[in-house]
Amino acid sequence: MSRWESHALRRGAMGLFACLAVATALAQTSAPDAKALERGAKLIGFCANCHGANGNASAPEIPNLAGQNAAYLEEQMRRFVDGRRKDPFMAGLIKAMSPAERADAIAYLSAQPMQPSAPRAPAAQIAEGQSYYAKVCFRCHGDKAMGDATVPRLAGQQPGYVVKSLKRYRDGTGERLEPVMAANTKMMSDAQIQAVAAYVASLR
Ligand code: HEC
Ligand code: HEC
Repeated sequence: MSRWESHALRRGAMGLFACLAVATALAQTSAPDAKALERGAKLIGFCANCHGANGNASAPEIPNLAGQNAAYLEEQMRRFVDGRRKDPFMAGLIKAMSPAERADAIAYLSAQPMQPSAPRAPAAQIAEGQSYYAKVCFRCHGDKAMGDATVPRLAGQQPGYVVKSLKRYRDGTGERLEPVMAANTKMMSDAQIQAVAAYVASLR
């Protein structure tokens, strides 16, 4: 079995557990109510300075949060707080939020449409990125790069942020340590990273 196949098998099993967990959570709590969305909208007024109105960032290295998977956003907040993901500013900010505030912000952000602002990259670069994506990344991030409960959506993500994140995983710089992403970026050249980022940014 190739390394990719064993990853995919493990992912398949994880996906099943994730589905069961989500189904259980849904049975226990209902979808975010209008009040949670309203509170979330007020809360993210400050976040909008960087992540943009409704979670659509305009600076290339700041991630869009709009339309991102709720469970993924929750996990990243947890990682900023416990130090597994290192960004002193974001860590301080998330620590200052109560669990209820975090939940409201996530409910609001994940319900917003992603409206990518990055200019389209040259067609040849997008095509190169697409073929790399179709060999490796689709197994976890999905055919349309929408991710799932444990894997982030990449479709429409800010390309500068995708490049920065991929290089951090590949080079083991320490801001984000994730064995699965380290393994899947180890073989990537800078040009391949740029191309894949251009491709996922072009998806809607
Ligand atoms: C001063 C600018 C700034 C502000 C204000 C800000 N952020 Fe961030 N945020 C960033 C940057 C930059 C990153 C990417 C950090 C990195 O490179 O790892 C980030 C990353 C994140 C991530 C991880 C996204 C991902 O795709 O993994 C979440 C979640 C997040 N921010 C939530 C928030 C929330 C909620 C608020 C408001 C309470 C907020 N941020 C306010 C700059 C900001
Ligand atoms: C085996 C499953 C798997 C494969 C294959 C995979 N990823 Fe990931 N990816 C993940 C997981 C899980 C995370 C969340 C990691 C974390 O929390 O830091 C992630 C995170 C990311 C992020 C950070 C997104 C954000 O919002 O901060 C980017 C960018 C990314 N992957 C791109 C890719 C690309 C491009 C490929 C193909 C070269 C790829 N991934 C292959 C599972 C995978």
